[in-house]
Amino acid sequence: MPERRPVVAVDGPSGAGKSSVCREVARRAGLVYLDTGALYRAIGWKAREAGVDPADGAAMETLCRSLRVEIATGPDGATRVRVDGTDVSDHIRTPQVSLLASAVAARPCVRQSLLALQREAAAQGGVILDGRDIGTVVLPDADLKIFLTASPEVRARRRFEELAARGEAVTYEATLKEVVARDEADAGRAVAPLKPAADAVRVDSSMLPFEAVVEHLLSLIPHG
Ligand code: DC
Repeated sequence: MPERRPVVAVDGPSGAGKSSVCREVARRAGLVYLDTGALYRAIGWKAREAGVDPADGAAMETLCRSLRVEIATGPDGATRVRVDGTDVSDHIRTPQVSLLASAVAARPCVRQSLLALQREAAAQGGVILDGRDIGTVVLPDADLKIFLTASPEVRARRRFEELAARGEAVTYEATLKEVVARDEADAGRAVAPLKPAADAVRVDSSMLPFEAVVEHLLSLIPHG
């Protein structure tokens, strides 16, 4: 019998360090990483391109019906996303797309249209997925569930440094506001809100260096 490879679900608020931690854990543990936030970002990007307001339920339903989202893993282990044939991976990391992603993510049709894709990606095991509802909705039977968090100030600081390093014209104060607004929207929505699964291991990364978080997660992954 081939050994069953682990399925790891990592959820948490924006800026908790999920994607950089998961990418490194995936590299060291030989798992495939899927950044599910990139999928919602891609749909937020598409809504903007198509001139669709995420608050317009009927227009979003129409958009969802024709949407084709494809995923791949880049040479650096990062998730690449194509929407209707266009690779949008390099255009979805702006603060504006963050807010659009959060807005479209509250639409049931959007969540439904991404569910099968995420489950298929995890079907063979040997994966680590990060998002907001992975342990609660997408993969409730995951072998390991982590809820990775940090204080809003620490998360805003990290997000700000990341954006500033990419040359985005942002301030720490504006980034903190965006982080808090997205937390409220993601945790307060009716469908699949951000919350820890009952059986998730909570990890607060506020005071922990990156390497310590990575090693902690690696120590929790079940083997064989
Ligand atoms: O992880 P991220 O910041 O790239 O995610 C962008 C937005 O997508 C986030 O504000 C909420 C939404 N999202 C979600 O609702 N469910 C997921 N599994 C992943 C992201």
